[in-house]
Amino acid sequence: MKKKTFFTALAMAGCIGLVGCGAGATASNETTESKQTETTEEKASVIDYMVLVNKENALPDKWEDEVSLTKSTNSLGDEVQTESRAYDAYLELKKDLEADGVYVDLDSAFRGVEAQKKIVEDFTKKYGETYVKQYVAVPGFSEHHTGLALDLYLNIDGKDVYMNEDMVEYPEIWEKIHAKLADHGFILRYLEGKESVTGFNYEPWHIRYIDNVDLAKEITEKGITLEEYLGKLPKGDVTPPKDTE
Ligand code: DAL
Ligand code: ZN
Repeated sequence: MKKKTFFTALAMAGCIGLVGCGAGATASNETTESKQTETTEEKASVIDYMVLVNKENALPDKWEDEVSLTKSTNSLGDEVQTESRAYDAYLELKKDLEADGVYVDLDSAFRGVEAQKKIVEDFTKKYGETYVKQYVAVPGFSEHHTGLALDLYLNIDGKDVYMNEDMVEYPEIWEKIHAKLADHGFILRYLEGKESVTGFNYEPWHIRYIDNVDLAKEITEKGITLEEYLGKLPKGDVTPPKDTE
């Protein structure tokens, strides 16, 4: 998305200082005046920390060209890329949690469309289509494409816990993590009971950076989703299928 701004400049050739160049300029001055039009194109950044990417809203054009990413390596030896401000905030969150004896690491943050396709394939083989509809976004419609969505995993008693089915066994640890998110500009994105709004099942590990502590606190205190905060509820039925379907 580009914002174009046009400036028209009136150049008054031959004028030195203000005398003779204003409204009362003489005829001889007028003959030396020339109008010159300059067009300047200013490009506004497409990066918006409140961007909504979900089942009905694709990643904005040009986002991947403009997003600034920071690379890191997690305890499993995997390289993770995260939007740079989100990564700095994550490091502060991690430090804050460690002070309370809670240890987290980054499983995944920025994912391009190809990486998302691979996840769809791998998860379909491993967990089946219903699970994928409940937990994995269609490539092009994943919040992970923004670099602002972070999937955390846990380290408990020195052991990494990173499989979804294992991580959900520790609700008390997630509660401690969720309680600190807003202080660092994050919100929990896929809330329990809001599946018909977000389009996904509850994901305690998926946090979203919004770069605004006050807003993050407001959204968290109200117990609402980003869709509800922005007043952009789904137009169609995005509810994921139930396990039995
Ligand atoms: N797990 C979230 C929904 C994603 O795949 O983007
Ligand atoms: Zn995620």
